[in-house]
Amino acid sequence: MSGPVLVTGAAGRIGTWLRGGLPERGWAVRCLDVVPVTDVRPGEEHLVADITDLAAMVDATEGASAVVHMAGISGESTWPAISHANIEGTYCVLEAARRSGVPRVVLASSNHATGYTPRPDGGLLREVDAPPRPDTYYGVAKVTMEALGSLYVDRYGLDVVCLRIGSAFPEPTSTRQLSTWLSPADTVSLVDAALKAPSPGFSVVWGVSNNTRRWWDLTAAQALGYEPADDAEVYAEALIEVHGEPDLGDPVHGRVGGEYTLPEFDAENFEKP
Ligand SMILES: NC(=O)c1ccc[n+]([C@@H]2O[C@H](COP(=O)([O-])OP(=O)(O)OC[C@H]3O[C@@H](n4cnc5c(N)ncnc54)[C@H](O)[C@@H]3O)[C@@H](O)[C@H]2O)c1
Repeated sequence: MSGPVLVTGAAGRIGTWLRGGLPERGWAVRCLDVVPVTDVRPGEEHLVADITDLAAMVDATEGASAVVHMAGISGESTWPAISHANIEGTYCVLEAARRSGVPRVVLASSNHATGYTPRPDGGLLREVDAPPRPDTYYGVAKVTMEALGSLYVDRYGLDVVCLRIGSAFPEPTSTRQLSTWLSPADTVSLVDAALKAPSPGFSVVWGVSNNTRRWWDLTAAQALGYEPADDAEVYAEALIEVHGEPDLGDPVHGRVGGEYTLPEFDAENFEKP
């Protein structure tokens, strides 16, 4: 497929990894963010736009072969902020893709779409066994993102792959992340697979590395072509020395959304003063 991949949120953490990794896998990248990307690389196209501006997004998607939608508020916030950037914004991205004839959209969903889902008694948790169970307004927006994606597949025939990303950090920073970490290299590999998979239709997959302690099933992601290479276990000894062995009875380790399910993540604590 010719035409660049439009990466929204290109100035953010994951956007920056994708700008580095996708060209190595043969993708030309068109970058979009509401703030300018400061370290422009050769071959990149750049747009500064707000994803909630539908007209700007129609222009931005023109001629693109796919959209990788990473832009938005990447954690809990107030309802007005989340619903605008993450729900209205995702609608504009999908609607712009449809109007511009872009056949595929990869959406940055999150484990927090299913955050209150308990850890199974053994075995791995499949996506189909984790229906919407958001832990925050942020999680509600990710549920809505998946629902919008499903609508645009069934009604308009797009291919939409939703990545329920775990913890995408340069390296794991907590013992929970020994299970949920998604490494920078594996992030690129997962997005590349979501872009290349033949006719995925509507697909929802976990986004984690091949962590020894992971309890989210990667069968569906691997069926798309994802080949995870990293394992958070190499950081286990150092993290456990500082934080202690994970207590699986603690909600931080016993629920998909971890600490987001705790009382301190109530949106009231995110109201601006
Ligand atoms: N990093 C993680 O661990 C993780 C986990 C689960 C899901 N996700 C999702 O992945 C995506 C990327 O995460 P990240 O860690 O790179 O986040 P980030 O906060 O580093 O980057 C988000 C980018 O989106 C841009 N943005 C925000 N609102 C915008 C708007 N209205 N229009 C255009 N651009 C806008 C910001 O300027 C920022 O550059 C997010 O949707 C996030 O919810 C991330």
